Amino acid sequence: MQAKQHAHIETFGCQMNERDSEIMAQTLGADYQLGGGIEEADLVIVNTCSIREKAEQKAFSLLGRLRRMKKERPELLIVVAGCVAQQEGSGLRHRMPHVDVVVGPQQIYQLPQLLEKARLRKTSIATDLRADFRIPRFLPDLRSGSTFKRFVTIMQGCNNFCSYCVVPYTRGREISRNEEDILAEIRHLASHGIREVTLLGQNVNSFGRDRAGSPSFAALLRRVAAIEGIDRIRFTTSHPKDLSTELMRCFADLPKLCPHFHLPVQSGSNRILSLMNRGYAIEAYLDKVEELRGFRPDIALTTDIIVGFPGESEDDFLQTMAVLERVRYHGAFSFKYSDRPKARSAGFADKVAEEEKGRRLEILQKRQEEISLERLREWLGRELTVMVEGESRTAGGQCSGRTERNQIVNFTGDTTPLLPGQLVRVRIEEVCLHSLRGSLVAGIEIP
Ligand code: 5AD
Ligand code: SF4
Repeated sequence: MQAKQHAHIETFGCQMNERDSEIMAQTLGADYQLGGGIEEADLVIVNTCSIREKAEQKAFSLLGRLRRMKKERPELLIVVAGCVAQQEGSGLRHRMPHVDVVVGPQQIYQLPQLLEKARLRKTSIATDLRADFRIPRFLPDLRSGSTFKRFVTIMQGCNNFCSYCVVPYTRGREISRNEEDILAEIRHLASHGIREVTLLGQNVNSFGRDRAGSPSFAALLRRVAAIEGIDRIRFTTSHPKDLSTELMRCFADLPKLCPHFHLPVQSGSNRILSLMNRGYAIEAYLDKVEELRGFRPDIALTTDIIVGFPGESEDDFLQTMAVLERVRYHGAFSFKYSDRPKARSAGFADKVAEEEKGRRLEILQKRQEEISLERLREWLGRELTVMVEGESRTAGGQCSGRTERNQIVNFTGDTTPLLPGQLVRVRIEEVCLHSLRGSLVAGIEIP
């Protein structure tokens, strides 16, 4: 029997991409063995992100390195997947002739056939974006990957066309998955010991709107919560304008639903929000935050913010800073605005200078770091339920896990019998910059 060839997958970007990489790995199945370094690989898949300029540059710099590797080993197969593949299509092959396969997010399931073609020295390019695309039924392989938590894609694409965003062009229109397929996948995961699922989509709040007879996202959550064996449910990501009271109510009713909501605000200025085509005013956003806290007062909120959008004045920026103080987010991802191909704002006037964007970002990140730390300090001296993940990466000899709010907890105690996925109680004794420290509460183990 011939020895299996080695495949290496490099993933950039969001959790959708991480899940897509798992799917691609599974489709390689019998032909390839994963693992080993990029230097030893016979096949390299680069799953790319193009959400911001920096993300795209990372993919191109890796592809540059692969060009040199292929010169020395011409039999090396190179696949470009994800958002850059979709965005560039056949243009990518012209720019980078060493690439063998260009595969868009809707075609990842056909990877083995595309590779077959590439082996015959034909380039395969598959980047159709179809509005009638259906996400196929696909039961995950549980022989590799996490033994206790998984991502489940419930929809793809986005219909919102925020003026800065490339996603509608790289992931296409919103397409929800069939409810039965989603539930079958989660039951399958649960029956193999998975205890936490994160439901993924670019805008999960509008789940089902494109499918006659589909449940709403809130109704789907209730059905997922009824699956035995699943202890924790998370989801991402949401658009504030589509956040319904029906969904908020789930946080009061479903104990398995983790009290964490990622609600991207992007800007605190109504003028900028309107230029961004976000479809809400900041007052409406803040009302939703308040309503959500009414259902679950201890919910952790995180957000995304762009600084230096074209036309953003100092006053607009200060309005964003005021939102940080109002909401007191548990965490925020913040970015300097960058032009993206096809995104409308690329053509907007009054671009903010790079240096000024940097200054605003630094101010914002510094203040948010203080608030995040204050939020973590609220837990000092209290007990929290932690899902065990494994050994701590930062604190030698300690065990590490996550709270319902997704905070990392490193803890000591009699951790030897603990298994990943198990729920334990930890008393919080110390606060670090991005994590908590504590010790196991003796005698209590949640089955
Ligand atoms: N420039 C900077 N940040 C962007 N994001 C999306 N597009 C851009 C862009 N052109 C940010 C938004 C989004 C997050 C995933 O990335 O904050 O929520
Ligand atoms: Fe990046 Fe968006 Fe594509 Fe995810 S969907 S990889 S965040 S551009």
